[in-house]
Amino acid sequence: MALIAPSLLSADFLNLGSDIDMINNSEADWFHLDVMDGLFVPNISYGMPIIAQIKKRAKKTCDVHLMVVEPQRYLEDFKKAGADYLTVHYETGYHIHRTLTSIRALGMKAGLAINPHTPVEMVKDIIHDIDLLLVMSINPGFGGQKFLPTTFNKIREARQLIDQSGSKTLIEIDGGVTLENISDIIAAGADVLVAGNTVFAAPDPADMIKRLKQAGK
Ligand code: DX5
Ligand code: ZN
Repeated sequence: MALIAPSLLSADFLNLGSDIDMINNSEADWFHLDVMDGLFVPNISYGMPIIAQIKKRAKKTCDVHLMVVEPQRYLEDFKKAGADYLTVHYETGYHIHRTLTSIRALGMKAGLAINPHTPVEMVKDIIHDIDLLLVMSINPGFGGQKFLPTTFNKIREARQLIDQSGSKTLIEIDGGVTLENISDIIAAGADVLVAGNTVFAAPDPADMIKRLKQAGK
């Protein structure tokens, strides 16, 4: 069954505690936490101090998505803040393999994200060094954007690559996931679905999580 990871980017930051409790008490599997630096993406979100606070209250896996340049500078900080999965972008580094190795050495699961313009085959030689392959289905930076249909092929390619390699890497899809497209995304081979706007713009977010989970069965 596919995992659902609500993104707190679309949560109500004046009532973050109650949104965290809502996710704790819902059928969601993970917390997806988006860190943006205003350089790698044209937006700034939140960083380690907020994640450390979230971690105190969250009762589920914390999946931290770093949209920052030079992510290798902050690996220990995010470990201390409580990241369970730490995902860096392929496009940010000359030595991504070293960064992924360091993430695992610190005791976290290593994630690698690819932007819409990066082909899946770029990760072929390091697939065994990745616990999570995050295929961006939008250009990162903002919630509430429309799913790029070219992602479907990339999911199928990623599924084939992972299955052929015998690795256990999970495929995560981030951006524009809705009740309408979730079944097709899972059918293409995705394991983890991030949902921000779909969950938090719904009149009953916990019920929306339940419906997303149901659609992923
Ligand atoms: C965007 C972030 C996403 C974002 C997804 O750069 O990586 O995690 O929160 O938001 P929705 O689900 O609204 O597209
Ligand atoms: Zn994200």
